[in-house]
Amino acid sequence: MAKLEIHQFPCLSDNYGVLIHDSEQAVTASIDAPDARTVAAALEEKGWTLTHILTTHHHGDHTGGNAALKAETKCTIVGPRNEAAKIPGIDKQVGEGDTFTFGGHEVRVLDTPGHTAGHITYVFPGAKVAFAGDTLFAIGCGRVIEGNAQMMWQSLKKLMALPKDTTVYCGHEYTQANARFALTIEPDNAALQKRAKEVGQLRAAGRPTLPTTIGIELETNPFLRPHVAAIQKRLGMEGKPEWQIFGEIRERKNRS
Ligand SMILES: [Fe+2]
Repeated sequence: MAKLEIHQFPCLSDNYGVLIHDSEQAVTASIDAPDARTVAAALEEKGWTLTHILTTHHHGDHTGGNAALKAETKCTIVGPRNEAAKIPGIDKQVGEGDTFTFGGHEVRVLDTPGHTAGHITYVFPGAKVAFAGDTLFAIGCGRVIEGNAQMMWQSLKKLMALPKDTTVYCGHEYTQANARFALTIEPDNAALQKRAKEVGQLRAAGRPTLPTTIGIELETNPFLRPHVAAIQKRLGMEGKPEWQIFGEIRERKNRS
């Protein structure tokens, strides 16, 4: 199995840029492209040449660098079929169930709509890593902008079904605010209390709280825990469908 090197760096105000590199086949992809100059600087720092951009969704803080980076490097831009018209420079359209290879790695595509109508997640099963864009965040999830709660819940369930030791990279550093909110939904979750403390320490030291793992999120992310009795009781929603409880938690976060 070829080694996948991963380099995460802050971009714009609270985005993360991520570069992935397979040295055996000399390919490098930028997961989204929030800002061309910052991505180019990260490439230079690592000594890597951009060959691909893997776009998760159309928002400007994920595609703003596409045109300039493509003009400069002639890279191939892969992106979601279901919103392809909104992805600058897209060359290859992908969606649910598609697989392709990046260097020596198989990549599987999941449709994870809700934040946007065509949002996708890239899963590298061999390296046990997933790039979830703005669908899943550490202790949180993306705003449901173009879809509805039921759709977003189905998307999150696909991510919840990945192996627990899957490392997850996300689009934004929102973890500290997410942790504060999460404690209002599940104040007695000891794993969440512990993690909230660690997140506070990391941010105070100027360090990222990402990537995360599916296992950590299953234990501490209230958006993935609508089945938990204590959460249902706190929300007065005992026995309600999970997607409705998810939707209520999302509404409360929007208002927080
Ligand atoms: Fe977004």
